[in-house]
Amino acid sequence: MTDSRLAIVVLAAGQGTRMKSNLPKLLHPLAGLPVVSHVLATAKALGAAHVITVVRFDRDRLAAVVAEDLPESAIVDQDEIPGTGRAVEQAVAALPADFDGDVLVVNGDVPLLDADTLISFIAAHRASAASATVLSAVPDDATGYGRIIRSEDGAFDRIVEQKDATDAELAVAEINAGVYLFGLAALRDQLAQLTTDNAQGEKYLTDVIGLLRRAGSEVTAVPVAEAWLVAGINDRAQLGEAAAKLNALIVRGWQLAGVTVQDPATTWIDLRAKLAADVTLLPGTQILGSTVVETGAVIGPDTTLTDCEIGSSAVVKRTDATLAVIGAEASVGPFSYLRPGTYLGADGKIGAFVETKNAKIGAGSKVPHLSYVGDATVGVESNIGAGTIFANYDGVNKHSSEIGSYVRTGSHNVFVAPIRIGDGAYTGAGAVVRKDVPSGSLAINVAPQRNMDGWVQANRPGTDAAKAAVESGE
Ligand code: UD1
Ligand code: CA
Repeated sequence: MTDSRLAIVVLAAGQGTRMKSNLPKLLHPLAGLPVVSHVLATAKALGAAHVITVVRFDRDRLAAVVAEDLPESAIVDQDEIPGTGRAVEQAVAALPADFDGDVLVVNGDVPLLDADTLISFIAAHRASAASATVLSAVPDDATGYGRIIRSEDGAFDRIVEQKDATDAELAVAEINAGVYLFGLAALRDQLAQLTTDNAQGEKYLTDVIGLLRRAGSEVTAVPVAEAWLVAGINDRAQLGEAAAKLNALIVRGWQLAGVTVQDPATTWIDLRAKLAADVTLLPGTQILGSTVVETGAVIGPDTTLTDCEIGSSAVVKRTDATLAVIGAEASVGPFSYLRPGTYLGADGKIGAFVETKNAKIGAGSKVPHLSYVGDATVGVESNIGAGTIFANYDGVNKHSSEIGSYVRTGSHNVFVAPIRIGDGAYTGAGAVVRKDVPSGSLAINVAPQRNMDGWVQANRPGTDAAKAAVESGE
């Protein structure tokens, strides 16, 4: 549903210097999505008639994220005049001339705020006579935030930024959350009055509040239910805290949906991941990106899945996997490395110290031990011997291998691609397979073994080996 009287301005033009990063602050990942994407998702849920995102630093990368997440948002480029006030001034100038509603301003670095909180906030503003409403909070540590300054009668008077505050003002516990609702006309008038006459040399949006009060308008501060909802991210310590809080909420959500999480503190689940009821996550497990895990699967301990699909009742133990699809009741690990394009059929196995890449391994087929399978297909119910290498790279090009169904390959084989092994074929231990193997054949190419009797006594006399040979009496 569209709220025709609502416009949203997302502030995303700041540099984020306190992050000390080459990556813009708002693009740092949080639960698998850029910080700003969380804010854009919330903005989207409000169904505003107009959304404007203000960008400047790394504008192309930010604009690309906005275009992807919230294509209905207009993008405004902030000029060289710094500050949140300037950003809103330019956003307001970009609103259509016939718009005459409320303007919700949200900081792009306040990612945990949810749409429900904003819906109540908007309702509180509209039920009041105030020309501006500010979301406030009382966090454990107010350092860095603008303080809400009230006059003696308790009325909200103005906001003072940390860097401009007196000691008495710094002692105020109530802070500005960075979320505001303004009537458009009042906002427009006061934005025009802003100056850069402050400690940071910026046009502060927060000064609009004091100016409105001086002009005789009413402003109110609505406290948020819990301070973590409006945690702002300025540095990496705050990013870490927000990530931990969001993860705890996500983990709890999945627990209540029927997922066993043995150790929530060491389990990380990205926002877009999906888990069915009766999935079990063991300690040290990360379910990242758009990973989907079906019912009954047991993941972990110490497993990282990125953009994977795990079938029902599969077991994935001590594994690192990206863009892999694992069938129902299949088994992976421990110590397996599954790279993009790995498909393991139902009931299949990728075992200890096995690496796979672009490998389709059919239902019931097994690669149990110490192998590399790259650019290959394996049919159903085949067994790849221990220590097998699919030699897919000739130093210039990659080639593929095709192993049929019901194949049994010997230990320590090398399959030199391109190669084809027919259904039901066998290969001997240690074979270096360079030619196709027809269905039902046994391929061997290791030289026959010769035993040189008495060689050790003759050539290594007096050694422990020679003595042991003599003592064996054989
Ligand atoms: C701001 C508020 C502060 C509040 C805090 C809440 C101001 C002056 N101060 O401080 O009262 O307690 O948020 O988290 O607004 N931005 C622009 N253009 C700019 C500067 C910033 O778009 O020129 C954007 C940033 O990308 C960011 C947001 O505005 O998303 C807030 O900027 P930031 O510099 O982080 O402000 P704070 O110091 O946190
Ligand atoms: Ca901030």
